[in-house]
Amino acid sequence: MTTIDISSADLKQILTFCIDLAREAGKTILKGSEAILSTASDDVEEKKNSVDLVTEYDRQVEALVRDKIKQSYPDYAFVGEEETSALGTLPPLTDGPTFCVDPIDGTTNFIHGFPYVCISIGLVYKKRAVLGVIYNPMLDWLYYGVESQGSYLLKSSSSAPLKLPLAYPRHLPSLSNALIAVEWGSDRTADSTRAKSESFARLAGDGRDGQVKGGVMAHSLRSVGSAALNFAAVASGSLDLYWEIGCWPWDVAAGIVIAQEAGGLVSTSDLSLQGGEVTGDSSDTILTGRKYVVIRGIADTPNEKGGDAQKRLVKDFCNTIVDMKPARLS
Ligand code: IPD
Repeated sequence: MTTIDISSADLKQILTFCIDLAREAGKTILKGSEAILSTASDDVEEKKNSVDLVTEYDRQVEALVRDKIKQSYPDYAFVGEEETSALGTLPPLTDGPTFCVDPIDGTTNFIHGFPYVCISIGLVYKKRAVLGVIYNPMLDWLYYGVESQGSYLLKSSSSAPLKLPLAYPRHLPSLSNALIAVEWGSDRTADSTRAKSESFARLAGDGRDGQVKGGVMAHSLRSVGSAALNFAAVASGSLDLYWEIGCWPWDVAAGIVIAQEAGGLVSTSDLSLQGGEVTGDSSDTILTGRKYVVIRGIADTPNEKGGDAQKRLVKDFCNTIVDMKPARLS
């Protein structure tokens, strides 16, 4: 039973808190990046394999964020990537408010100095993502969104917020017109690698004259290495669609709200779970389901409502890719 009520005024206050917290965490991320890039020592640890990485800064940032949240919101639950990975199991979501935090999303980028790194702070309430802040300290870009209150980008702490999407939500006739983000993730088993390779080939490949079977020849594929920043780019309108199997709620909770508030639609990529249809529902089954697809807002045309176009394209997408089972935590 829910014992804490959160009003939209509360959400506004929580948003201010989360923005300040993200900026503070960003300072530690920047310091960590400088330290990692300027020393010969290798402070990188492997979690479940050699591409699933964690640094002392992931842990430091998570501890900072968890402590500040516990001080200000002692009754709210906290699910952080590093703590949860160490426990080896994702606690079930309750109806109470839960902060879902990835202290450094894009850890591989962080280690390599590739500037697509962020902290992602999501608030889940009644099993739905209702507030999100994603901050990339390398570029000083901060995205935020609150359910029913819109989503925005702050390009620096002193600039005015830009409403998302940044681009006019042009019509998207088919997947062949789309710029699509995909990720390899950290599951490199034969099954996962085969399913992803085949999916990527179908998305990029020319299906005409039987060249690539099932090929839709999208404009191109991108991998920036951060689930949260992929969601933010879809919310901005600079990516048309992002798909990944294997992420966790801390990677996507903030991004889901930011994308939805910008007119995006979030779905599972396994439509067999919902009778083969795209529902546009993003309840806890989607949030914890680990198979995410998000498409940007699309304007209505005389022949098709934007919402129908989103559902049609997500359905086409799900029928194009190869489904796979996500790996467990450890
Ligand atoms: C990872 C990134 C990556 C995605 C992985 C995530 P991390 O998060 O978001 O883009 O492909 O699935 O685990 O490990 O850098 O926090």
